Amino acid sequence: MQAVHPREKIQQNPLVAIEIVDRLSPADLNDLSDATDAAIEGGGGFGWMVPPAREVLERYWRGVLVVPERHLLLARMDGVVCGAAQLVEPSRHNEAQAFSAQLLACFIAPWARGHGAGRKLAETAEKLALEMGYKVLQLDVRETQDAAIHLYESMGYRRWGVNPAYAIVGGKMIAGYFYSKFIAPLETTAAP
Ligand SMILES: CC(C)(COP(=O)(O)OP(=O)(O)OC[C@H]1O[C@@H](n2cnc3c(N)ncnc32)[C@H](O)[C@@H]1OP(=O)(O)O)[C@@H](O)C(=O)NCCC(=O)NCCS
Repeated sequence: MQAVHPREKIQQNPLVAIEIVDRLSPADLNDLSDATDAAIEGGGGFGWMVPPAREVLERYWRGVLVVPERHLLLARMDGVVCGAAQLVEPSRHNEAQAFSAQLLACFIAPWARGHGAGRKLAETAEKLALEMGYKVLQLDVRETQDAAIHLYESMGYRRWGVNPAYAIVGGKMIAGYFYSKFIAPLETTAAP
C-alpha cells in the first residue's frame, strides 16, 4: 500500500508549529525543498521563478544554516515542514544599523496556506528579533503579494517606500514595497 504524505491529508484545524533551527535532518531538508518548489511553482519563491535542481535547492538551504547572520525558522503543519523564514542580522561592522534586522524569504507552501502558519512564522521571527535586542524589523515584498501585504500591514508594518523597478516576472516589471516596524522603543538624539 502506498503511504499517504501528511500534506495530502491536512486536518480541518491542523497543528501549526514554528521552530528556530541550526540543522536540518535529511527528511526536513527534503520537505523544506518540496515546500520551496511548491512556493516557486505557485509564484512566490523569493526570487526563483522556476524550481532549481534539487541539489541546488539543498545547497541553498544548507548554505543558509552556515551564514552566522542568518537565522532559519521553519513552519510545520501536522509535523511536516511547510514553509520558512529567515531573520537576518546586520553585519558586525555595521554599527550604524546595528539596531535593525531584516525579515527575509518568508513563505508557506500553497498546500498549507490559510491556516495561520504565515502569521505565526512572522510573529515568531519578530519575537526572536526582539529577544536578540533589535528595535526595528525591515522587509520588502512584491506589489503582487497580496496575502503578504495584508499580513504585514495587519501586524503594524509601515510602508515607507516603493521601488518601481523591483522585479521582472513573466516579462513584466513589478514594483516592490518596503516596510519597517519599530518592535521596541528606540532612543535617539536629534541629528545635528
Ligand atoms: C504570505 C504568506 C506567507 C501567508 O501565509 P499563510 O499561511 O497563508 O498566512 P495566514 O494563514 O497566517 O494568513 C495571513 C493573512 O493573510 C490573509 N490572506 C490570505 N490570502 C490573502 C490574499 N490573497 N489577499 C489578502 N489577504 C490574504 C489571511 O486572511 C490572513 O489574514 P487575517 O489573519 O487577517 O485573516 C503566503 O501567502 C506566501 O507564502 N505567499 C508567497 C510568498 C510571499 O509573498 N512571501 C512574503 C514576502 S517574502
